[in-house]
Amino acid sequence: MSTQEKRHILVTSALYYANGHLHLGHIVEAIQSDIWVRLQKLQGHHCIHVSGSDAHGTPIMLQAEKKGISAESLVSQFRQEHQRDFGDFLVNFDNFHTTHSPENKALTELIYARLQARGDIAAKTIKQAYDPVKNMFLPDRYVKGECPKCGAKDQYGDSCEACGATYTPTELKNPVSVVSGVAPIEKESEHYFFKLENYNDFLQNWTRQGHLQEQMSNKLNEWFEAGLRQWDISRDGPYFGFPIPNTENKFFYVWLDAPIGYIASFKNYCERNPDINFDDYWKKDSPHELYHFIGKDIVYFHALFWPAMLHGSDFRTPSAIYAHGFLTINGQKMSKSRGTFITARNYLDHLGPEYLRYYFAAKLNDGVDDLDLNLDDFVSRVNADLIGKYVNIASRCAGFISKNHDGMLADSLINPALFNRFVDSSGAILQHFQTRQYHRAVRDIMGLADLANQFVDENKPWELVKNPENKQKVQAVCTQAINLFRLLSIFLKPVLPQVVKNVESFLNIAPLQWEDISQPLLSHKINPYQPLMQRVDPKQVQAMLEQGKQMTETSPVVETKKSDLDLAPTISYDDFAKVDLRIAKIVNAEHVEGAEKLLKLTLSLGSENRQVFAGIKSAYAPESLVGKYTVMVANLAPRQMRFGLSEGMVLAAGPGGKDLWLLEPHAGALEGMRVK
Ligand code: 2FM
Ligand code: ZN
Repeated sequence: MSTQEKRHILVTSALYYANGHLHLGHIVEAIQSDIWVRLQKLQGHHCIHVSGSDAHGTPIMLQAEKKGISAESLVSQFRQEHQRDFGDFLVNFDNFHTTHSPENKALTELIYARLQARGDIAAKTIKQAYDPVKNMFLPDRYVKGECPKCGAKDQYGDSCEACGATYTPTELKNPVSVVSGVAPIEKESEHYFFKLENYNDFLQNWTRQGHLQEQMSNKLNEWFEAGLRQWDISRDGPYFGFPIPNTENKFFYVWLDAPIGYIASFKNYCERNPDINFDDYWKKDSPHELYHFIGKDIVYFHALFWPAMLHGSDFRTPSAIYAHGFLTINGQKMSKSRGTFITARNYLDHLGPEYLRYYFAAKLNDGVDDLDLNLDDFVSRVNADLIGKYVNIASRCAGFISKNHDGMLADSLINPALFNRFVDSSGAILQHFQTRQYHRAVRDIMGLADLANQFVDENKPWELVKNPENKQKVQAVCTQAINLFRLLSIFLKPVLPQVVKNVESFLNIAPLQWEDISQPLLSHKINPYQPLMQRVDPKQVQAMLEQGKQMTETSPVVETKKSDLDLAPTISYDDFAKVDLRIAKIVNAEHVEGAEKLLKLTLSLGSENRQVFAGIKSAYAPESLVGKYTVMVANLAPRQMRFGLSEGMVLAAGPGGKDLWLLEPHAGALEGMRVK
């Protein structure tokens, strides 16, 4: 390939939130982009694929807190886990960085400063739900209550799952903070907004210049008609993110620095690859290409905010944004209760990555319709196509070449027309891959595999071989078939990288490139055939589903050492030191109506009384407790329980039932006294 034809392409896959396991929905996008990138590399183009962890935001902060680890450590654990999963799915990111990185901080500050200098940032005071116990503002999803429209209980602060109504958290009836369980209050705070409306003309043009799929452009038209609104890009602390320079306790909203993470991941890649020039890719009007693969749910961020931010801060804008649909399993949303919530690891524990890569490729197109993984169809399609058609060609012919011809292929093709037919189809196959019509590429490839099998069936080398006079014919037939198989392998290489690597070893050749298509492999010694793929056994799928049923989305990140005690993860001394243990006098104890296990205790700490609900009813009659001293955790955040607010916890030990003992300090104890 001449240097003129060589393209320089940067591809991104959406960054992954670093607080949960990857599931097969994430794998759809990674496989889609990986196939596309591998196709570019196969053609000899210079193509770099970056992604990474989306590290910031309230959910990550709170989850880390719950686990008693730092947010950085949570992100690092999930980042490693995600990288392992992708590696095992043969998704080859050139760089997998994180948004919580010095590169991203510097770039975020730079972009913000440039936007600010252009007058694109406004400050406004807004009212928001605030947790008075946790002392933090609450994102909409962290407030729950009754739907203001239909009264359904336990609905999030932004929309009702029962009736579909959308509203603000302040409209919920009987709202509670998901974090502490208390009713949120409303509080004012100054926020910073990106004035998206300043980019109305730019975006109206940009979104109609072929950078977006048609379905996306139509959606954008609706947004333009509704009018572009200012975007709140700040959050108050406590928040895991980058502080906004020259402000007090304000942080950039996770969605501001997330896409900047694409640039940061690339920058980090450049730092380790000095031959790549950062500016060549990101300067305004860069001639290099930039593609973002994303899910259809995040189009708003990528097709409006992102190009506007880039344009306003003097960076290049994307060449195109490629959105895909969601994954369904057996026609329905992935669901834990149906046992179809399949994590990446859950799949990999039972099945090979290339089965799924192939199945997804056979179904993916350039649109945003959902993609269904029908598990019966998955088994039959993989077995029929990959084992029954593709691998079958080599497995039926290779043995004759090894045994009777010392591995030597013939010096000419017996049916050049058929070979040329394959070569002639390569243009359309390439075009289908290039335009993300992978299902069409796979359809064409399997059509050719049928022709190759038909050729073998018609020539029956296993019959020919019975007559020694046919020795040359057998070699010719098998050489032809192996050459057709080799072309199919080039076509399938982006989808089945490991299988094709094994094909390259079997054929005893250098890594295949797309341009190798035109030349047949003749007078060449191949290696003995080793099985390339096994059939999928439906039992493997069943075992995967069984395992999935037992796992939950929130299973621990770090496998804690299991012992008879089944200890919780260790905590640091500093964490332990935060626990404020006090001696409390039980001044009142009573039954709680409707509660099976709880007693309502009034505990005196000397200076104040606390109400605590304790699950000790099976072991203590309330009247036996009054007047006793016990030990309580005095600085536990109050929790709203069904029967009222619980303001601490008493310490008790025992296997349960009647065998439960409150910790009772000996005589001399004084209420309110610190224990330690
Ligand atoms: O929706 C998500 O899963 C986000 N973590 C995607 C971020 S993509 C980019 F902007 F970083
Ligand atoms: Zn409702």
